[in-house]
Amino acid sequence: MEARAGRFKHILNVEDMRREACRRLPRAIFDFIDGAAEDEVSRRRNRMQFEDWGFVQRVLNDVSRVDMSLELFGRRYAAPFGIGPTGLAGLAWPRAEILLAKEAVGAGIPLCLSTVSSVRLEEVADAAGPGAWFQLYIFRNRDLSRSLLARAKTAGFEVLVLTVDCATGGNRERDPRNDFMLPLKLTRRNVLDTLRHPGWLMRLAKSGAPRPENMVEAATGAGASAQGLVAFMNSQLDPSVTWTDVAEFTALWKGPVIIKGLLSVHDVLRAADIGASGVILSNHGGRQLDGAVSPLTVLPEIRQQLGNRLTILCDSGFRRGTDIIKARALGADAVLMGRNTLYGAGAAGAAGIAHVIRILKTELERAMTLLGAASLSEITPEHVRYLGAAHLAEVSAPANYAVLQRRMEAAM
Ligand SMILES: Cc1cc2nc3c(=O)[nH]c(=O)nc-3n(C[C@H](O)[C@H](O)[C@H](O)COP(=O)(O)O)c2cc1C
Repeated sequence: MEARAGRFKHILNVEDMRREACRRLPRAIFDFIDGAAEDEVSRRRNRMQFEDWGFVQRVLNDVSRVDMSLELFGRRYAAPFGIGPTGLAGLAWPRAEILLAKEAVGAGIPLCLSTVSSVRLEEVADAAGPGAWFQLYIFRNRDLSRSLLARAKTAGFEVLVLTVDCATGGNRERDPRNDFMLPLKLTRRNVLDTLRHPGWLMRLAKSGAPRPENMVEAATGAGASAQGLVAFMNSQLDPSVTWTDVAEFTALWKGPVIIKGLLSVHDVLRAADIGASGVILSNHGGRQLDGAVSPLTVLPEIRQQLGNRLTILCDSGFRRGTDIIKARALGADAVLMGRNTLYGAGAAGAAGIAHVIRILKTELERAMTLLGAASLSEITPEHVRYLGAAHLAEVSAPANYAVLQRRMEAAM
C-alpha cells in the first residue's frame, strides 16, 4: 500500500494533515475541531498514553500477508478503525458528512454519523449504504430523541451509538477566545483571519453556513429561529439522563447499541447489564471533562473484568497505526477517530479524508508486519509492556525536563 500519492507528497502522517488543515481553515474553525476543554490536559495525555506502552515484537512468523480485517456487529470491515461521530463536520468542508460516508464505504471501515450533522441523516444513510452507525443524544425533550431514533432506523442505520458523557457542554476556551459562535459571525477579532482563508470562505458562501439539519423541524416547532438552532441543541443536553433512559433507548432500537463515553469499569458492567452490545471508552477527545483519563489507562482492567460480554471500542487521541495496535493488544476490538478525518476534510475535502484513511491503513499494515502479527487475533498482551514508571522517571529528572517539553509540544 502506498500512502504518498501525488498532491499529498508532503503529508506523510496525520500530524502533517493536521498542520495542513491549520493552514487551510480560519483559526476559529480549526480550533473548534482541534481544541479541547480547559487546560487541555486530557487532550495532551491522549497522545502521551501511547508512549507509556512499548512493543515486544515477535520475529520469524510468516507475515508475507497481513490481514487487518475484522467483524463488528455482524459486518466485516477492512481495518479495526472507523470514523467516529463529529457534529457540524460541514464547518471543515461543505457537506463533509457525505464525503466521510463515501470514503468510509470505499475503504471498508465503519462510519458513525453524529446527531448534530450538517446534512440530514437520511441523505447520509443513502450515501453510506447499509451498515452505518448513528449516534444519538438523549435530549431533554425525550420525544425528539425518540423521533431521531425512529428516523435513523427507517433510514437504514444498523447500529445505534448513545453518547452519555455530555451531561453538559465542555468548557472549551479556545472558542470564546476566537469569537467562535454558531451561527458563525464575523467580529473584529476573527474577520481578518477569516478573509485570509478565501478558499474556505468561498465554499461557505456557496453552500451556506452549516447548521444541525436533523433538528431544524424540532427547533422551529419549539419556537427557535433558524438562527437559534445551536442554542436550542445546547439547551437540549440533559444532566438528568440516567441508566433508566439508556435502557429505554437501548430496548427501543431493536438492534446493536453501543454506549459511548465510558471510562469506569462499573459503568461498563452496567452497560452490559442493560443489554448494550458494545461500549466506547472515551474522554471525548479531551473536549468534556478535562483531566479525564485516557482510554488505555482503564482498558486492560475493563477487558479483564468484562471478559467477552461486550465489544470494546476506544477513541481519543489515536493518530498512528501503532496506536491502534496498542489498543488491540490491551483488549480493544477496534478504535474510532474523531479529528483525523476532519483534518483531512478541512485540508482537502474528500481527497484529504481518503488520504488520512490510506495513511492509517498503511501504517497499521507495516506495524503488524514488523510486530510479527499476520492477523488482528495474533496481537496479544504479550506484544506490549507498560513503561509508565520508566517514562515518569525519565521526564521527572530535572535534566530531562526538555524531554517532557518536547513531548508536550509534539502533542499540541
Ligand atoms: C469537532 C468535533 C465534534 C464532535 N461531535 C461529537 C458529537 O456530535 N457526538 C459525539 O458523540 N462525539 C462527538 N465528538 C467526539 C468524537 O466522537 C470522539 O469522541 C473524539 O473526537 C475522539 O478523539 P480524537 O478526536 O482524538 O480521535 C466530536 C469531536 C470533535 C473533534
